[in-house]
Amino acid sequence: MTSAPGAEQGAAAERAAELRSEIERHNHLYYVLDEPAVSDAQYDALLNELRDLEGVHPELLTPDSPTQRVGGHPLEKFIQVEHLQPMLSLANARDEGELRAWAVRVATLAEKSGLDGSAIDYVAEPKIDGLAISLLYEDGALVRGATRGDGEIGEDVTHNLRTIGAIPLRVPDAPRTLEVRGEVYLPRSAFARLNEVRAAAGEPTFANPRNSAAGSIRQLDPHVAAARPLSIWCYGVGAVDGLELETHREWLDWLRARGFKVSPEVEVYSEVESLAAGCRAWEERREALDYEIDGVVVKVNGLSIQRGLGVVGREPRGAIAWKFAPMTAQTILRRVAWNVGRTGHLVPFADLEPVPVSGVIVKLATLHNEEDLHRKDVRDGDEVVVMRAGDVIPQVVSPTPAAQRNPERGEPPRPPERCPSCDTPTVKPEEGVWTICPNRASCPGQLHQAVKHFVSRGAMDIEGLGERQAERFLADGLIGDVAGIYELDQERLTRLEGFGETSAGNLLAAIDVSKERPFHRVLFALGIPGIGAVGARALAHHLGSMDALLGATAEDVEEIEGMGPVLARAIVETLAEERTRALIERLRAHGLQMEERGAAAPPEGPLSGRTLVITGTLPNLSRDEATARIEAAGGRVTGSVSGNTDYLVAGDDSGTKLARAREVGIEVIDEAGLEALLEG
Ligand code: IVH
Repeated sequence: MTSAPGAEQGAAAERAAELRSEIERHNHLYYVLDEPAVSDAQYDALLNELRDLEGVHPELLTPDSPTQRVGGHPLEKFIQVEHLQPMLSLANARDEGELRAWAVRVATLAEKSGLDGSAIDYVAEPKIDGLAISLLYEDGALVRGATRGDGEIGEDVTHNLRTIGAIPLRVPDAPRTLEVRGEVYLPRSAFARLNEVRAAAGEPTFANPRNSAAGSIRQLDPHVAAARPLSIWCYGVGAVDGLELETHREWLDWLRARGFKVSPEVEVYSEVESLAAGCRAWEERREALDYEIDGVVVKVNGLSIQRGLGVVGREPRGAIAWKFAPMTAQTILRRVAWNVGRTGHLVPFADLEPVPVSGVIVKLATLHNEEDLHRKDVRDGDEVVVMRAGDVIPQVVSPTPAAQRNPERGEPPRPPERCPSCDTPTVKPEEGVWTICPNRASCPGQLHQAVKHFVSRGAMDIEGLGERQAERFLADGLIGDVAGIYELDQERLTRLEGFGETSAGNLLAAIDVSKERPFHRVLFALGIPGIGAVGARALAHHLGSMDALLGATAEDVEEIEGMGPVLARAIVETLAEERTRALIERLRAHGLQMEERGAAAPPEGPLSGRTLVITGTLPNLSRDEATARIEAAGGRVTGSVSGNTDYLVAGDDSGTKLARAREVGIEVIDEAGLEALLEG
């Protein structure tokens, strides 16, 4: 006998509820706390079970089910919606003097209303440079998410906001009505990668993380937002019906406790002196954060005082934004010059009259690709806006309006007719977006870039074979390409000036050692356009071997997280090229790893069995380099601090992970400490 249909349905409903709360718990751990507790596969299994259950019992499907985050069909058009409480703006303080003047005004006004002006507390929080949004919860369920619009009326973008894992779809113990306000942003690291991938595909790049976040949210099709690792910082509430708290700080704590992502570093100050010091501290850390901030927002903590202070125009008197100096500057673009990349693409860059941009002298800036150059319409001699943000390499944002009006302006720059490195006539493939140097076999510029990348620390990391040495070997004809490194021998090396028996022997031994680098490093080292360190890991992890990758279709590659259709096609096309295949086969014949070994066999070393997390900017090592060296010493690098972490390697300004490590009592070391561990 089968059980009665009612009982079966009851069990299904119970399991669905259980799965939903379990999945949302993991979402919170992963997206808000950055502390995943299960593997991707375990998470997917839970989601798939829920999806299957909802497939069999469609009546159990609810709009707040985690299966509904990436919604179905694109919208036809945006719907305008009215915020229950308007989204206001902030007055600005440009410096400390203006902040102090504001605090004096606030105290005086408070006293006029019979309050104690000297007892005012201030809350300082980062001013996130993203896209302002308002989330409306009714009886705890997310029913709508909207952009700021004109402050009164915004656009309904619920379909896109639902895709953001850090936004709770359901809030426990929520008041009847609750508007949560926050700023959607794209992490700087994700922005840099997104632009890298778009530039490699010849697509227009985004000027800054804010534009890319806004561009992702203002899309009718939710799949665009779902494909980008957007996040949110929540900083307050709008309309609330059914709960009253006394201070802004209490609201922030309330939101955090209910699963919203609220900065853990918000501070309350009772003195203007320490408040100003707190603001300056944010400015100093600005560049080390993985999200862009353009200032600090200071709010009066007491909500009754805040209300009493009122609003002037659209700006509440009880809050102010201390704005940082802009990270942009104007200078003259001497000329657009061109570099040849490791795959022959001609990459434009700006040769600028040197200019300081937030403390750093900038002489060169990237222009990404031809499409970017045309879209920005910069010309030789133009006065241009240069920005340093979100990306380590400064970029040219646009010509200034004055340059655009200049009647004597030059012609739009065009890619050179001959390769700047080998003088071969350049070509632009009919369907391609890049002009290329077709001399892939012997263009010194391309070879140089390819070898430089191949031997670099995050790639094959050959001790004693740095960029300069590689350049010399190429120039002396000792190697013709990257595979040539494995064909070097004692006799040829000792013929070179400066190489004795011992140094040649050491180098050959180091080259031999590099044959043990795992497959994902080999894949990264090949320098296939669009395969960075992260992409190489994902490909190696999912496909397992070079043969599987060579046999994969663009559709197979697209299934891997982080691989969009354009990138997937570009990867498959490059791998199909005769030249790429021949190079891979030579490397295989030399014994390089062409299969990803199971996680079971990390190399033995001083860090065997140890798990490390890296955060902030290290003075001498990039993340890739540090990761590669830790792995080579037998250690494991993960993205977030958990009970399993042995060390947190903290660079300049380390934010939340550092705070968490201290909380959990994990040993924090700096780069020197890491070097000591690596020494064993
Ligand atoms: S409070 C009453 N707090 O800055 C003003 N705003 O010019 C309500 N922003 O569009 C805003 N970080 O989207 C506040 N921690 C923060 C913020 C923040 C970024 C944005 C906000 C608003 C703009 C105000």
